[in-house]
Amino acid sequence: VVAVAETSHPVSPTDSDLALGRDGQAVRVVGARSREKLFYLARYIEIFTTGMKNRWPHRVYIDLFSGPGRSLIEGTTEEIDGSPLIALRVPRDPFTRLYFNDADPDAVSALNRRIGSPAATIRSMDCNAAALEARNLLFGEPTRTLGLAFIDPTGFQIDFRSIELLTDGVRLDLIVTFMTSYLRRFIEQPSLSARLDAFFGSDDWRRLVDLRERGGTVTNRNLLDLYQSKLRAIGYRHVVDHIQVVNSNNAGIYHLLFATKHDRGDEFFRKISQRKFSGQQRFDI
Ligand SMILES: C[S@@+](CC[C@H](N)C(=O)[O-])C[C@H]1O[C@@H](n2cnc3c(N)ncnc32)[C@H](O)[C@@H]1O
Repeated sequence: VVAVAETSHPVSPTDSDLALGRDGQAVRVVGARSREKLFYLARYIEIFTTGMKNRWPHRVYIDLFSGPGRSLIEGTTEEIDGSPLIALRVPRDPFTRLYFNDADPDAVSALNRRIGSPAATIRSMDCNAAALEARNLLFGEPTRTLGLAFIDPTGFQIDFRSIELLTDGVRLDLIVTFMTSYLRRFIEQPSLSARLDAFFGSDDWRRLVDLRERGGTVTNRNLLDLYQSKLRAIGYRHVVDHIQVVNSNNAGIYHLLFATKHDRGDEFFRKISQRKFSGQQRFDI
């Protein structure tokens, strides 16, 4: 068993350890509900790569929090592909370039051993530095490059400014794990306030703390609306949050935000998320 590297930013209760996988490389130990998040990611990747291939010769994928590539479902012996392997193993019309990053060097060395694709760049650095590098590396021909970025942190590590720089002037759809419950719980913690300024890209989230201090309630909706208004302000005309996942220990809810600048992306995401992970049909979109 290898230890998880300490990161400089707060991590949530969902942050888990690395263990040794069946192939002898590190795997990330995750709750069973991780499958749900990856289910939607895989479905969007599939519709995105096949649906866009004719008009977009360069289709790129960016994963700023890639993990080691495989995960072990906690309390079982079941291993599943993590986001990087899902993105690499698109059955048809694969991404033309992929960029993976994780701050944990143990996770990255396992990922390196698992994938040998010449189309992939693999890095180990803070997500904010990686966002800049990914943008510079992958969008050389911006008008002909279409991308998807998966932002799947354990907390609030990504600065809003990094998202702004990463996406400025390019067509890059975003799928973001937004730690709603964790944020609601910890929003008042003084030790988090500088981090939250960076995460939201300004200090206007503090009005929610004021609201609470005056006896009001901070709701998931308040938090989602605030973040989404920022995505809209940088050109994301469509932002949806109808996918909500409960942690395996029922400790909290996170939302999978989807953002795109274009109608087609919105249409595709709504289409793939009509069928829920449970197999049920969704009627709320
Ligand atoms: C939820 S996991 C990612 C799981 C992966 N997307 C998957 O589907 O298998 C979050 C990852 O973020 C990494 N991480 C934590 N802080 C980071 C930071 N500041 N920059 C980059 N990666 C970070 C952790 O090492 C962890 O592997």
